[in-house]
Amino acid sequence: MLSFRYAPGLSVLFILLGTVTAQAPVFGQCGGTGFTGPTTCAAGSTCVEQNSFFFQCLPTSQAPAPTTSAAGSAPTSLSAIPTSTLHQITNFGTNPNNVGMFVYKPAKLQAKPPLIVASHFCTGTAQIYFEGSKFAQLAETFGYLLLFPSSPHPDLCWDVSSSETLTHNGGSDSLSIANAARFALANWGVDPERVFAVGTSSGAMMTSVLAGAYPDIFKAGVVDSGVAFGCFSSTGPLDTFNEVCASGHVIMTGQQWAQLVFNAFPGFTGTRPKIQAWHGTVDTTVFVQNFFEQIKQWTTVFGYPSTPISNVSEPFLPKGYSNATFGPNFQAILAQGVGHTVPLFEQQYLEFFGIA
Ligand SMILES: *[C@@H]1O[C@H](CO)[C@@H](O)[C@H](O)[C@H]1NC(C)=O
Ligand SMILES: *[C@@H]1O[C@H](CO)[C@@H](O)[C@H](O)[C@H]1NC(C)=O
Repeated sequence: MLSFRYAPGLSVLFILLGTVTAQAPVFGQCGGTGFTGPTTCAAGSTCVEQNSFFFQCLPTSQAPAPTTSAAGSAPTSLSAIPTSTLHQITNFGTNPNNVGMFVYKPAKLQAKPPLIVASHFCTGTAQIYFEGSKFAQLAETFGYLLLFPSSPHPDLCWDVSSSETLTHNGGSDSLSIANAARFALANWGVDPERVFAVGTSSGAMMTSVLAGAYPDIFKAGVVDSGVAFGCFSSTGPLDTFNEVCASGHVIMTGQQWAQLVFNAFPGFTGTRPKIQAWHGTVDTTVFVQNFFEQIKQWTTVFGYPSTPISNVSEPFLPKGYSNATFGPNFQAILAQGVGHTVPLFEQQYLEFFGIA
């Protein structure tokens, strides 16, 4: 991680510009809205657009853009998974609603590889999230496995509302995803200490659900523009969009929010997954109140103070982003002036997971 935390004075800047051709380091920022630093990358890396705010120097040795390959029963060995292609798997365990499931294995894997489950937004699919993110390209650099679930529901949202999905081994979509992760652990040599979840919008909500209901499987989650665990709770159709929650009108105490998490898996006494939440202040789909409700929930679950121990802007994030840390296991990044959704910052997620 970059640790360049001071703003150089004008004279320092002048000297730097006067003496060297500035180059951004590997994984450094090299462009994006409002960025004024170097736009050429250090040798061996290329400037890649991550999103309109953030271009990043990534190692040039990355595999070509991945493609998809045909579906098949889930391979029972790691070597049987096709390489550098989005590959659909079936028969990975009980799958109540027939959630689609895809695996991505890079050309080079770490020994005992980490696994990241990446869940798409409403109207999305596994394929769309795969193509619209850098998770697969970065897997080629860092050697982790990916699972991309795909929603079986009409609006292509996730069931983050039923009591089944909100309960450990209760059924519905969260059980299918948990079972795919269990299959990977049982058959592909995945490191049980490095199983992670990430998602955007409905996929962020699913990430909270997985963190809350399957803390025995998932060790960390990144929630991009989502809600607190249980906020979408409803008895409507499985992929109900809970307007009351989304509009920021489900307000509870930290204790009440934490109780929903505890009730999801009564008797669980292990370590809960670390959480990193991201949200935009002008989100009009999932209002920013949901960011503050998540803070109440997870700080209570972790027994952290409700105010951050640090809250800073980071040199590698756009202006207006603040990174509030409440303790080692919970960070909340608020993006001023950003709507639905906060753009992906895959590199930061990987650092949070301890992969990059
Ligand atoms: C962090 O600071 C920013 C502005 O400085 C503020 O808008 C934001 O609410 C703070 N975050 C938290 C979680 O308190
Ligand atoms: C937020 O701050 C913490 C503590 O300094 C740091 O470990 C973490 O990487 C930061 N997160 C982001 C996304 O910048």
